[in-house]
Amino acid sequence: MSLAPVTIAGTGSYLPERILTNAELEKIVDTTDEWITSRTGIKERRIAAEGEFTSDMATKAAKKALEQAKIKAEDLELIIVATITPDTLTPATACYVQDNLEARKAIAFDISAACSGFLYAMELAKNMIGAGSVSNALIVGAEKLSAFTNWEDRNTCVLFGDGAGAAVLRKSEEGEGRILATEIGTDGAQTSILNIPGGGSAMPITEANAGDKLSSLSMLGKEVFKQAVRRMKDAAIKVVDESGLTSEDIAQVIPHQANLRIIDAIADRLDIDNDKVFVNLHKYGNTSAAAVAIALDEAARSGKFKRGENIVCVVFGAGLTWAAAAIEW
Ligand code: UT7
Repeated sequence: MSLAPVTIAGTGSYLPERILTNAELEKIVDTTDEWITSRTGIKERRIAAEGEFTSDMATKAAKKALEQAKIKAEDLELIIVATITPDTLTPATACYVQDNLEARKAIAFDISAACSGFLYAMELAKNMIGAGSVSNALIVGAEKLSAFTNWEDRNTCVLFGDGAGAAVLRKSEEGEGRILATEIGTDGAQTSILNIPGGGSAMPITEANAGDKLSSLSMLGKEVFKQAVRRMKDAAIKVVDESGLTSEDIAQVIPHQANLRIIDAIADRLDIDNDKVFVNLHKYGNTSAAAVAIALDEAARSGKFKRGENIVCVVFGAGLTWAAAAIEW
């Protein structure tokens, strides 16, 4: 079945006000600004206020995307929130967002694909709109990772931050841009190298293990690093090839924002100049599913690419999961 083309009609993002700098982290764990900057590229990250939930950040990003897309919340037909830090295990964070937006007509659900979630959501929404099941969709990547961080573990607490990014998708009209190609993948044999082990049904938090920080992110950084470079490079090449583009046709690459060394390695392997690769992780750290969504919004609004130009988004995360999208903007 051939699917109707789908365009991104608007984007939005939201970052909480509170900035946590590397200098402040030096006072919390045994680390230095020098180590964090040279190993990751991160200088600061945002931390949600107490009482500010993933759904609140998602809603704020969503409102900006809807405004730019000129679509009213009441006309939305689908809301997908990608998150690993939902407000509650159930119902889905997307349900809170639907209520906040008063988007009464929209079906709403979450997907859990870690840092790759926003592009997984894009793939789903694109196919549902393309097949005619819905006429538009709001997709959001939103995370309150500060609530799932072990603030005593220097290996992880320096890496993550909070925030949300959103996009509104609808059928592409004549002369508009469209999503050219998408690629998503999973390797479930490697669940152990990046996960939150506790808090699910396999290991509920009990009185006996409550102090063990089991509901915090745990990662074998070096393993994840290697996989991230390989999977993101392969996924990006696949969507570029499938779209009939070459690296010269790409105005901007928007990669997952986890580590500047990973981003540089990918730019190198894709043979793309560093100035064509968008980076904002120095300001926000790794915001998991929100990262590529925030980056897409910031890059678009700051004029890094224009309507009619081609961009490539590419992500990697726990699962392991990975995804890429080539988009004519
Ligand atoms: O978003 C999902 C995908 N996630 C990623 O893509 C993350 C991928 N991994 C990474 O970005 C990097 O592996 C990290 C930034 C997490 C770590 O960098 P690394 O160069 O792989 O360092 P390492 O984990 O091998 O640690 C090197 C040393 C260790 O000390 P020893 O064993 O050599 O004495 C660590 O204990 O650095 C030490 N270390 C720190 N030192 C100061 C680890 N964290 C810190 C810290 N401050 N915050």
